[in-house]
Amino acid sequence: MGLNVRLLRESFELVLEREPNITHRFYGILFSRYPQVKPLFGRNSQAQQEKMLAEALAAVIDKLEDASWLEEKLMAMGAKHVDYGVTDEMYPWVADALISALGEAAGADWTPEHHKAWTDALNAIASLMIRGAKQYGRPEAAAGAGAQASS
Ligand code: HEM
Repeated sequence: MGLNVRLLRESFELVLEREPNITHRFYGILFSRYPQVKPLFGRNSQAQQEKMLAEALAAVIDKLEDASWLEEKLMAMGAKHVDYGVTDEMYPWVADALISALGEAAGADWTPEHHKAWTDALNAIASLMIRGAKQYGRPEAAAGAGAQASS
């Protein structure tokens, strides 16, 4: 994916040292800037959601060089997000809130390179999740160019 894996890992570690509760801060920023997404949440407690997001981010950071893992897991996660009511336009909102939370925690150590590395990574993650969302309920779409629409 051409991502700056080293910088992503280093900065994620630094952020977690300084702000172990980074996903709590993320939801605070997300809901204050984009209150329209708030009604989508509520299947799980806020604490549980924070924990699941933190684990998902750690797993993705760990697997940044494993393209087939990323494709499989992120496409499946994108499909699940359709059921949560998530639409394509919301991905940049989440990226914005997450990058702000990370930058805040990193403080003076946050550079334009960090901003770019995380923007690229979140774009790549969103692309895979959105691809998974598009194929959701349409397994024939996964078959590739030879597939015919049935309707
Ligand atoms: C960086 C991209 C994202 C990642 C890594 C991510 C990760 C997760 C994870 C790990 C869960 C827990 C359940 C599951 O595994 O399906 C979840 C649930 C959820 N996500 Fe995301 N997500 C992302 C983008 C988004 C976006 C753009 C939205 C739109 C606002 C969103 C809204 C939700 C909602 C509403 C739930 C269900 C929460 C509940 O328990 O009520 N996510 N997400």
